[in-house]
Amino acid sequence: MRYASRTQWSGGNPATASAWDTHQVAVEMMERGEKAILLTVGDTDFDTPKNVVAAANDSLRQGRTHYTGSAGEFSLRDAIARRHSATRGQPVSADQVVVTIGAQNALLTAAFCIVEAGDEVIVPEPMYTTYPGTIALAGAHVVSVASPAEKRFHPQIDLIAAAITPRTKAIFLATPNNPTGAVYTAEELRGIAILCQKHDLWLVSDEVYGDLIYEGIHVSPASLPGMAERTITIGSLSKSHAMAGWRLGWMVAPRELTGHAERLTGYITYGIPTFVQDAAIVALETAPHGVPEMKAAYLERRRRFCDRLDQIPGMTCHRPEGGMFVMLDIRATGLSAYDFAMGLVREQAVAVLPADGFGPSAAGYLRINLGAPDHDLDEAATRISSFALDLSGVTPG
Ligand SMILES: Cc1ncc(COP(=O)(O)O)c(C=O)c1O
Repeated sequence: MRYASRTQWSGGNPATASAWDTHQVAVEMMERGEKAILLTVGDTDFDTPKNVVAAANDSLRQGRTHYTGSAGEFSLRDAIARRHSATRGQPVSADQVVVTIGAQNALLTAAFCIVEAGDEVIVPEPMYTTYPGTIALAGAHVVSVASPAEKRFHPQIDLIAAAITPRTKAIFLATPNNPTGAVYTAEELRGIAILCQKHDLWLVSDEVYGDLIYEGIHVSPASLPGMAERTITIGSLSKSHAMAGWRLGWMVAPRELTGHAERLTGYITYGIPTFVQDAAIVALETAPHGVPEMKAAYLERRRRFCDRLDQIPGMTCHRPEGGMFVMLDIRATGLSAYDFAMGLVREQAVAVLPADGFGPSAAGYLRINLGAPDHDLDEAATRISSFALDLSGVTPG
């Protein structure tokens, strides 16, 4: 049979296509009954807060198992609007919110609303690996702009400006960034905002890690002057409330755009599970922004893990300013991130991601998830150390 070409699409960056090889190796080991430490996927070892689970159970018991409006129930849209207004510095109302199946579906719905064939979308790289495919599904293509390691992976406004062409329709960014943990500063975001206004561009601001900040402050670009009418803010409960499997996300945008998005959700998802929406209201209304114990644990893990890895000759730990990933600089070993990560999983059964799968600026870095139990991270640090010492021919003392 003949298939659409998009089924073969891999994002254009060959490193992205192979980025998950290490994960696959570890999964196969585990299927064979061998133990492996998985620090690849951006999920967390924390459980969803118990009262949120109870709310879903109650909702199911009450028979909340029927269709709802495709943009989400008013009460949830209102709860998201209130949370956004309180934490993002932009007052919004429920009709500016569309509830989606996780942030990923919000990104796709946003792309469907604002870009089409022939359009270009600028994205600072390293970037979350679904962006190119998401934007391509909407017909447009990504123009990636380097955020170099020596600039702590922060966006370079002059490079972004230079990448703008008459075909540029939007800029997508994530702050805090996945994989780098860069928390974009107010000044950087003001620079991007000026470009958006000058060239009449949309800004899609992915803030799924916006409640996990360790350094600096989270600035939501929609709160900057002149940006509310051209910014789509993406959020979800996946990271902030340890609810990745619930698939509950949203976009906050100008009313005209949410009207279009609501129509499109009718074709894409046809609504969000009703009992998940009920539980989401409880999450938003009872848990502070970011489950505090989880955030505190990530911060402590960042300190402990990085302090250990920094002692390994040839390794430097890039401490994230936000989010849940450490970036480990292994360039001094002379290996590529892929070769290092593959050797590590095969010889030490520790799976991490070669970060150049997220963009060439991360070449020579590994992305390591902090959402894993302390004992796994401690053991991973020990094994990374042995692997690195073996490479350099040094016997651990
Ligand atoms: C930057 C970024 N955006 C969006 C997503 C997707 O989040 P969700 O689980 O809410 O779909 C992720 C997931 O890892 C992410 O890292």
